Parts: sequence; C-alpha cells; structure tokens
Amino acid sequence: MNPYYYNCFNCHSQFSASEIEQDLHYLCPKCGKADKNKPLRGILLISYDYQQLKKSYDRSFFLKQTVGQMWRYPLLWPLQPPEYAKDPPFRKIEWKELFSVDLPATKMHELRLDDYSVKLLDETNNPTYSYKDRASMLVALKARQLGLGAVSTASTGNAASSMAGICARFGLQAHLWVPENIPEAKLMQILAYGGQVHLVQGDYDTAFDLSLEISQRMGWYNRNTAYNPLTMEGKKSGAFDIFIGLRGDLPDYIFVPVGDGVVIGGIYKGFCELQHLGIIEDFPKLIAVQSSGSNALIRFIQTGKFEFLPAETIADSISAGVPRNLYFAANAVRESGGFALEVDDADIVESQKLINEKTGILVEPAGAASLAGYLKAKSVDKIDPNKKSMILLTGSGLKDIDSLKRLHRRPDAFRTEVWQERYVGE
Ligand SMILES: Cc1ncc(COP(=O)(O)O)c(C=O)c1O
Repeated sequence: MNPYYYNCFNCHSQFSASEIEQDLHYLCPKCGKADKNKPLRGILLISYDYQQLKKSYDRSFFLKQTVGQMWRYPLLWPLQPPEYAKDPPFRKIEWKELFSVDLPATKMHELRLDDYSVKLLDETNNPTYSYKDRASMLVALKARQLGLGAVSTASTGNAASSMAGICARFGLQAHLWVPENIPEAKLMQILAYGGQVHLVQGDYDTAFDLSLEISQRMGWYNRNTAYNPLTMEGKKSGAFDIFIGLRGDLPDYIFVPVGDGVVIGGIYKGFCELQHLGIIEDFPKLIAVQSSGSNALIRFIQTGKFEFLPAETIADSISAGVPRNLYFAANAVRESGGFALEVDDADIVESQKLINEKTGILVEPAGAASLAGYLKAKSVDKIDPNKKSMILLTGSGLKDIDSLKRLHRRPDAFRTEVWQERYVGE
C-alpha cells in the first residue's frame, strides 16, 4: 500500500487513508465545519512517509524530471498505482490511465522590461487552460479509484470548466455549480465538454454551499476547492514544477493570485514536501495578491479576524468573499516569510495588457493579478529588486473575452479600395 495519511490542520488528529476515503469524509471527522459564509474548519492535509520516500526521490532525481509530468513520482500522490492497489472496493489505477493526463504544455518564461525581469510560470496551455487542471486531474483519478461515476463542484468558472474537461477525458459525469455571471467563454467551455451546468442565482459563495448540499444527497464526489483535500494536494505540483523548470534555482519571491487560497496553500505544501525530502533548504517567500474588491485574506492577516464582505472584482476567478482555505493560506504566507497585498482592478487590467503584449501569453485578469502585485510590491519597496521574482499566470485570456473587450475596440471594416487607397495610394 502506498503509505499516506490525513492530518487535520486545526485539531491535528491523524487518520488513515481508509478512514477518510471509505466513508467519503472531506473535512476532519472530529472538528470539520463548512458553515455558511465562513472559511472551512478542519481541512485535511495529506502526509507521506518522507524518510522512506527520500530513498527514491532525492534532489538528483527531481532535477532529471520534466515540467508537467507529475505522475513520474507516483508515491507523492494519494493514489494506489498498480503494485500498491488494494482489493475492491477500490479500483486499481492503471499506469496508462495516470499518464493519460499530464501537463505537457506548462512552460517557464521570462518577462524582461527596462528595469526588471521576472520569471513566469505559464499555466495557460494546460488541458483546459488554467492552473485548476492540477487539482482536477487528481480528483478525477481518485473518483475512478473510489468507483464513483460523477463529480460535482462549485466554481467561479475555471474549476468547473477544468473538471468538466478532465471528466470528459475519464468518462465521468460532471455537475457544475456556477454563479449566473460566469464569463460566457467558461460557460461554453463547460457545455462543450458535456458538463451538466447548474447556474445559480447568486454568487460563488452561494454556489459553494449548494454544491456541498446536493453532492452529499446525490452521492457525487465533491471537488469543491479546499473542501476536497485532493484539490490542495494536486496544486502542490506547481511547486515541484517550479523547482524542476528552474533546475533547482528557486526564486526568492513568488507572487500568487488568491481567491480561496488553495493555489497558494498547495504551492506552500509542495515546497514543504521538497524540504522534508531534503531537496531544498531555502523557501521562496509566497506573496498573496488579491483584488481590493475581494481582499478577505489581507484583512485577516492584518486583524486576525475574518469578516464576510461580498466580493466584487473584474478578476472573477479570484472573487471570493469567503476564502475557504483562509487559515491555511494565511499560514502559508506567514511561514514562508511572505506577505499579502492588494491591487486595484485598474492595475490588474493594465498588467493583463502588458503580459499579453510583451510575452505573447494571453492571460485572464486573475492570471495578471500576480504581475500587478509584483509591480506594486516593487514600487512601495516591499521587495528587494535585486532578488529573483516569479509570477504565476494562472489562466488563459480566451476564457474571458469580455475582459479583452474592455481593452480593445472591434476595428471597423472597409472595402478593398479603401484599404488600397490607404496603403498603396491611387
Ligand atoms: C485563473 C485563476 N487564478 C487564480 C485563482 C486563485 O486560486 P485560489 O482560489 O485557490 O486562491 C483561480 C481560482 O479559481 C483561478 O482560476
């Protein structure tokens, strides 16, 4: 058996894999709580026998890996690959099934401008064009392993389109709970993959609660971010890929756009694991970037209190009045030595334009918030400009055409003669 177990972040109780997975627990069975309009209590973290794993996965092993090929180190995932598989009711995951999903197009780039240079982790070419695929792949594999045929999730759009696409690949049904103001392209993406869309009159926070209630009633595997421990687990792969892509030369600062706080939590967990394995010593500082219209994590870090305020930002993917992973995300920022900062929507839009035009990578607003955060941190001397920075580009601009329409007017069309006259003369 692949030895892994679950730990509660709040009460520190430990559970075996079967205690959690057989009865489909998502939060800690002792203290877990998913109250309306409150961050989750009792999120579960997955741990492995790092002393044992050190023997197989050391620094030289990781340096030989390829970005995006996360299944090449199967013992760092809570799955039962063939030689570890248990008898029914758990299904075996076949190797070919694991290798049918990876992130071959995840890329490292650099943005160099006159007075700065930042590394970019480009997640816009993932199978469904966002960072979310890292979690959805693991959730889909677990659903297959548990013998469950349907997965359900609440989402502002990306988790839903990701889950729908990955479910299509695995022959699973996908039920998606999304706010009615979901960007059109993300909605069409879900429908095109054959996902069952449940449009909610209300915001993402309303969709989150509804998804929990109905999945439980229907026996669907729930992928709500932070609630399902495999979401943060899948997202830890970003840290591994940063290490692999930069050949171990880690940045000093990593700027992460934050909504629910699972991407930043996952990256933190990934770097912690690299430390447990003796692969890295120094830890990059994680900088949480939020929009000023959706800044609950920043307020929590400043005051130590969570207060629910409805979120409002053009960066729909980081619009979360209740960051479900609030406590772990705040811990990730603190323990890494980083900080949290807010940027205005206008700065996000400007950064989006800059990334599109200077790198040829098309990003959605949330994906550009990281650059807006970097530029602000630099301008207010929150970072040492001589140190290395990386920003995460978490989602493709094609998913939010309206945000591009805000930047660009559709040009007028003219007859051939008009064009000829303009360029060739009479
Ligand atoms: C493009 C994009 N960027 C950033 C985030 C933020 O991730 P999290 O909600 O885990 O903080 C999301 C989450 O939906 C996203 O879709």
